[in-house]
Amino acid sequence: MEPKPASESRAVLVKWMGIGDANSAGFVHGGLVMKLCDEAAGIAAIRHCRGRVVTAAMDRMTFILPVHVGELVTCTASVNAAWRTSMEVGVRVEAESPLTGESRHTSTAYLTMVAVDDDGTPTPGPPLATESETERRREREAELRRQNRLAERDEILRHRGEA
Ligand SMILES: CC(C)(COP(=O)(O)OP(=O)(O)OC[C@H]1O[C@@H](n2cnc3c(N)ncnc32)[C@H](O)[C@@H]1OP(=O)(O)O)[C@@H](O)C(=O)NCCC(=O)NCCS
Repeated sequence: MEPKPASESRAVLVKWMGIGDANSAGFVHGGLVMKLCDEAAGIAAIRHCRGRVVTAAMDRMTFILPVHVGELVTCTASVNAAWRTSMEVGVRVEAESPLTGESRHTSTAYLTMVAVDDDGTPTPGPPLATESETERRREREAELRRQNRLAERDEILRHRGEA
């Protein structure tokens, strides 16, 4: 399979936050932000594989600043690294006041998406072709998160006496 650059699959999802998206204090629900991240990551992963994908894990979700009713939320998703069947997709969330244009970084998420066939069985996807130093840094950091995740799983299994 030909390596594909992240720029070919980058996805941008924009949604205007309404009253139904927030709690009584006017702060947008964290769960809604997570859902938008999942959708944006899914689009980037499908574009990378040009096939079906499932979310295997939301590895990290940080809420740096709150989002308010009336703001535009933009989720920008990029494939950070691709392995045999799985890929890490990073999502940057920004909230913008449509009246002033002022924008701030409110969340970051990392999701593992897996390419699957029609039966839902994992299937190989294209490797990632990195094009810039930023993309190479993202790939290195994604590899680190994967190693940490796998090491944690092995450690837990060892503690349970299952490995
Ligand atoms: C994700 C899923 C396909 C993995 O199936 P599996 O039988 O465990 O497959 P494998 O063990 O062969 O793993 C396939 C890949 O997924 C990765 N993976 C599996 N479970 C994972 C997890 N919990 N976290 C991160 N990666 C995971 C593996 O590392 C492997 O990656 P690689 O091929 O790039 O090395 C399966 O667990 C599934 O269908 N889960 C439900 C998905 C879902 O319903 N999502 C919500 C709606 S989209």
